[in-house]
Amino acid sequence: MKDQYNREISYMRISVTDRCNYRCEYCMPEGGVDKCEHDEIISLEEIVRIVKSAAKFGIKKIRITGGEPLVRKGIVHLCEEIGKISGIEEICITTNGSLLKDIAKDLKAAGVNRINFSLDTLDPEKYKQITRWGNLEKTLEGIKAAIDLGFKIKINSVLIGGFNEEDVVKLIDLTKDNDIQVRFIELMKIGETRNWDESSFISNTKVLELVPELEEYGVQGVAKTYKIPGHKGTVGLISPVSSCFCEACNRIRLTSDGKLKSCLHSKGEIDLNNLSDLELDEKMQQAIYEKPKSHHLDEGYTETDRSMNRIGG
Ligand code: GTP
Ligand code: 5AD
Ligand code: SF4
Repeated sequence: MKDQYNREISYMRISVTDRCNYRCEYCMPEGGVDKCEHDEIISLEEIVRIVKSAAKFGIKKIRITGGEPLVRKGIVHLCEEIGKISGIEEICITTNGSLLKDIAKDLKAAGVNRINFSLDTLDPEKYKQITRWGNLEKTLEGIKAAIDLGFKIKINSVLIGGFNEEDVVKLIDLTKDNDIQVRFIELMKIGETRNWDESSFISNTKVLELVPELEEYGVQGVAKTYKIPGHKGTVGLISPVSSCFCEACNRIRLTSDGKLKSCLHSKGEIDLNNLSDLELDEKMQQAIYEKPKSHHLDEGYTETDRSMNRIGG
């Protein structure tokens, strides 16, 4: 279905939990989240019902996010059930990778098509710093398990001024022998980062300055892609701040407390809790149609009060 600005909406991101086994500084408060009361977290059955409704209105791609989606019990079963829904063509997951190794095979069997990993640095100490206690080795094991099982994977690195500029070259080196996409994401002012120093927010053009060998390779979703000649993989630049892509946006989001957000940065949310099938269909159409035109990052603010772990990226 199209929204009021004629954008075809075909992609739904589902945050299955706001909890995480890590505490990335830009994503989550150090003390974690107030554990939502169990009945505030949407049930897996309810998620399946919502996807069934979304599929009726043209949603074809589902991405499971968090917090960290793999901490949610029943995640494999959820993917299996979503895969059975008529109209759903692709199921993807965005994860920190640390818990993946042991369930990668089950996710593959459940029909998961692609996995994106959050990995901002290849330095174990810096990894521990940005995630507040994470273990780089575990994430690398998760990435290896996914590659060995034949998953198409992407690596997401949030580019943070004064923190990981010197990791750019090493991360891009991963594309030399692996058919993967390494993407750099401009840090957005949202949630935890609202009051960060301006020097942390740098443009993705930095990547092109650091690696001038990169050649343009087209556009893929929200990323402009590049390649170093001879490398197996590609590099993506996601630049919501310096190069807004809202005009081509095709996505809506479901939060783990059952709210439909038609834009990452908007304040508006539609409560999908306790609705009949008919009401659910109506709210779904309303959310798609009323999707806001754009964020306001260029004017220096976001509308939402949520931190990223409560939206899912
Ligand atoms: P693919 O399906 O592989 O294209 O993944 P994706 O880019 O849709 O999802 P992923 O979870 O890997 O998101 C990558 C990054 O892009 C995240 O850091 C998000 O914060 C950012 N991002 C994703 N969607 C949007 C969006 O609609 N608006 C903005 N401003 N940023 C987004
Ligand atoms: N700006 C940009 N990207 C962010 N992510 C989380 N918080 C931010 C932010 N403030 C990214 C994570 C993950 C994805 C889902 O969102 O690194 O890759
Ligand atoms: Fe889409 Fe909103 Fe992201 Fe823009 S900010 S790309 S409209 S979700």
